This record gives sequence, structure tokens and C-alpha cells, in this order.
Amino acid sequence: MKIKQLKLGPMDNFSYVVWDESLNEAAVIDPAWQPGAIEEFLLRERLALKFLLLTHAHPDHANAALYFLQKDKELALTLHKEDTFLLEDAVSAGLFGGKPLRLLNGEEELAFGRGKIKVIHTPGHTPGSVSYAASGAVFTGDTLFVGECGRADLPGSDPKALRQSLLKLAALADSTVIWPGHAYNGNTSTIGVQKEYNIYMKLAAKGEAEFLKAAV
Ligand SMILES: [Fe+2]
Repeated sequence: MKIKQLKLGPMDNFSYVVWDESLNEAAVIDPAWQPGAIEEFLLRERLALKFLLLTHAHPDHANAALYFLQKDKELALTLHKEDTFLLEDAVSAGLFGGKPLRLLNGEEELAFGRGKIKVIHTPGHTPGSVSYAASGAVFTGDTLFVGECGRADLPGSDPKALRQSLLKLAALADSTVIWPGHAYNGNTSTIGVQKEYNIYMKLAAKGEAEFLKAAV
């Protein structure tokens, strides 16, 4: 599996193109800004877009989904069911082309190329935040950044759930490569390095009271 990290838009967001070289099938994770730049990359690599995946439904991760949905009748927007409340205005305004959303429960394995993408429900930043794991990589959205974790003071946020989600991610192999939703302190890291140096990962492991004091 190959990964292209694209830093796009005014908020240091990352969009990702993930693809299986043998089949030229691609998934785009968090299409939010400059869809033309994402599309250009897909065309250059001759990739067929199969999945449009959201780590969560905040606009700075979802803004450009409509661009791709309008171009491909087969494509659906995939996100966790508990984040649909963040899209209600857009759906009722007819955005997303009136297409049904493909809703996740949070424990699915999506058949992708010759492998699969595992969905890990990682609520806390939003109730429907998920991380996507595949081939030794994990796309953590706004749950885990290099050296930080996501905000837990927004509508639908839950700091206790965020701690549990960080513990869930900490249980992945230390060698797992992290691909975060924003370029806050760096572009990428590993679970092992974050367990050692990320203060929020460390406090999450220490206990709930310790984590909540720092995260809220
Ligand atoms: Fe967010």
C-alpha cells in the first residue's frame, strides 16, 4: 500500500491518498481543501477513486467531499454514524448530491485493493471519530497528532472517551506509523515514539484523573 500525504488549505490539514499499486484503487481520507490538487494526483498516478473516507465530520476534514461525489455516481461518503449530526445542515441543503452516506459502526474492515482497511472507533474529539489502520499505518484524524491530541472541548467532545481512544491506539504495534489530520508538530511519527514522548499519551496511560487535568 502506498500513501501520499497532502498538506492543503489554511488550517494545516492533511488529506491522504492511499492506494494499492497492483490494482490502482485509491482511497482519499479527509478531502477538505483544494480538491483539484487531490484530483491531479489521482490522475497523475492513474488511480481509480474507490473510497472517500472521513476520520470525522468537521468541515476542515470534509469540505471538498462534494467535489468528488458530484463527479462519480458510484462514490459514497463514508463516515461513522455518530458524526452525521455535524453534517445535518449540509445534507438538508442538498450537499453531497443527495447521495446516501455510507455509515460505519466503527469496527468494520473495508475490502481495499488486495488487503483491507480496518476501522477503529476512536471517539472523544467527536463522537464519531475513527482511525483507519492498514498495512502498518494508522490515520488518526484529530484524535492523535505528533506530540498532541485533539481538542476535547467542542460540541460532542468527550475527554474521557478521548483517553480511552488514545489507549486503544497505544495498543497498536509500536512500529505502526501515524498519519495525523493536521501538521501541528510534525508530519508523521510512530505509536512507539508517541507513547514515549507525547504527554497526552503518557497521561492517558497514567490514569483518568491525570489525563483529564491536562486535556480539559
Ligand atoms: Fe476536528
